[in-house]
Amino acid sequence: MCGIFGIVTKEKQKLGPTLIEAGHRLSYRGYDTVGAATIPPEGEIDLRKDVGKVQDVADRLKFSEMSGQRAILQLRWATFGAPSYTNAQPHLDSDGNMVGAHNGNVVNNVELRQQFMAEGMTVRSENDGESCVHAVERYINQGFDMVEAIRHAYNDLEGDYAFVIGKIGEDRLYAIKKGSGLIAGVTEGATCIASDLPSVLDITRNIVRLEDGEIITFWADGYEIRKVEDGSVVERQPELVEDTMEAVQKGGYDHFMLKEIHEQAQVAQELFHLLENSADVDPMIARIEAARNIYIIACGTSYHAGLLGSVYFANLAGRVTIPVLAPQFIAQYAPAVGPEDVGVFVSQSGETKDVLNAIQVAEARGMGVLGLVNVVGSSLMRESEYYVPLACDYEISVPATKTFTNQVVGFLYLALRMGGHDTAPLANLPRWIDETIEAVEQQIPAVEGKISPWDDLYCLGYGLTYPIALEGALKLKEITYAHCEGMLSTEFKHGPLSAVTEGYPVIFVAGPDDIPLIVSGINEVTCRGGRAIVISEEDSRLRVNADDMIVLPTVEAPDDMRPYIDALLSVLPLQLLSYKISLAHGYDPDFPRNLSKTLTVD
Ligand code: M6R
Repeated sequence: MCGIFGIVTKEKQKLGPTLIEAGHRLSYRGYDTVGAATIPPEGEIDLRKDVGKVQDVADRLKFSEMSGQRAILQLRWATFGAPSYTNAQPHLDSDGNMVGAHNGNVVNNVELRQQFMAEGMTVRSENDGESCVHAVERYINQGFDMVEAIRHAYNDLEGDYAFVIGKIGEDRLYAIKKGSGLIAGVTEGATCIASDLPSVLDITRNIVRLEDGEIITFWADGYEIRKVEDGSVVERQPELVEDTMEAVQKGGYDHFMLKEIHEQAQVAQELFHLLENSADVDPMIARIEAARNIYIIACGTSYHAGLLGSVYFANLAGRVTIPVLAPQFIAQYAPAVGPEDVGVFVSQSGETKDVLNAIQVAEARGMGVLGLVNVVGSSLMRESEYYVPLACDYEISVPATKTFTNQVVGFLYLALRMGGHDTAPLANLPRWIDETIEAVEQQIPAVEGKISPWDDLYCLGYGLTYPIALEGALKLKEITYAHCEGMLSTEFKHGPLSAVTEGYPVIFVAGPDDIPLIVSGINEVTCRGGRAIVISEEDSRLRVNADDMIVLPTVEAPDDMRPYIDALLSVLPLQLLSYKISLAHGYDPDFPRNLSKTLTVD
């Protein structure tokens, strides 16, 4: 994701080193271009930017020599417009009097660019950060001052973003928050803003947190916050942040895993907006639709998302896809694939060796390579003809959570589009995710203790919830170290039922359309003394048969979409349950023993 930083100092000084440091601190967010600008009181804005890593771009363009009292830095993670010099941020206005940069997505970027050009402005790139600058320029041209121009621009710029902007002839910078992160830092002789707290803590611990719909004007020894809505001044003093850097990076949660679970609504929202406006979606869909065979290839959690994607494609788009673990693709299917086929490769890291091996074999046979991938600039992203970026920021915790959710959202979106369905209800996903997390968090303590003493259990699902059961079982194995097998519920009677003894836990994940079948499965377990724990929406048939229930709130999705949404939401209690049981055992869920986040070995 993009990151922005802006600073105003009392004295003119070499700002290059401060900008390079800010770039390094923001780089954990992921990026593919780097840019910086200093804004003199008069003369020309010094703008330097390019594709590459912070140190590499800074060395090549001699950032260390940049000096002044006002500066902006931006790391860009490409969404609108390819990574290139032109699309790199910051951006100038038409006559080079203003410079600005943003973090987030302006979803009406294409329309805005056309309007700006029609109004005679000089639009140099395809990037939505440039639209932020021209949106302000539009109102400066009409005679408004900077704050008023930004207030008007806010109404024109749709999406989630934060941006910072400065103008020649002044001593200050301006920043605005709408959906994306923005904080300010106040220190002796300087005031700064940044996308997140970890990015300024080395400079100052006096922090002002901005809220959505607020504009901050900041100068070397002060700042003023105003509401966009009515221009009124907001009084807010800086707070002293005393937490350690690690605690700050965890965003107030005890573990990265919990933080990442709670970020799922936000990342789903960002992905949805991105997909609605991505230039890659249509060609990617065309490529999938034209294929003879469609393979979905991945490992671990990403494979489970692909498995659910495959159910979505069949049910919503009438297309058969072949979900397969990457090494098995090589062993089983590779000899038979060719240029008429495509593989949708799914990976958080984009560097999993098993997946890269499969890509290599697929490419050798001329098969098309498409990607669903989180890490920007990864091998999978580079190898893909078209890709859906998962837009999850960094996922630090070894157990994948938010990337699973966005992989599933990505598949659901593609399947809806391919089937000619309305994607608009997905705009409610963030709310449904948050409501589900809130509702299930309260229910976990009652069930946790029934499972945690056991080091052997099952997690069963059927149809849409089968991939979720596999994913829940993987989460439980990965961070509680118990042996938890995920399985199709109807298979349980074909052998594993013999494991059931008094109190033996079996988790059932039940979709709204499969309840009678799940009730049968529950009774096979409970009549042998086993304990049936059910995850589903409230249902009297399940309630009377199960020992315990974790109830998912009933979401107001259109009826024909509800089972698909429910499946996606039913992973949330399993993530939380695994997390809690891991803690109950005294384990560190973020860094389970023997595992690493990215498996770059065969
Ligand atoms: O980076 P990838 O998505 O390609 O990683 C694949 C698996 O190693 C990964 O999903 C693993 O299973 C997770 N740690 C499970 O939480």
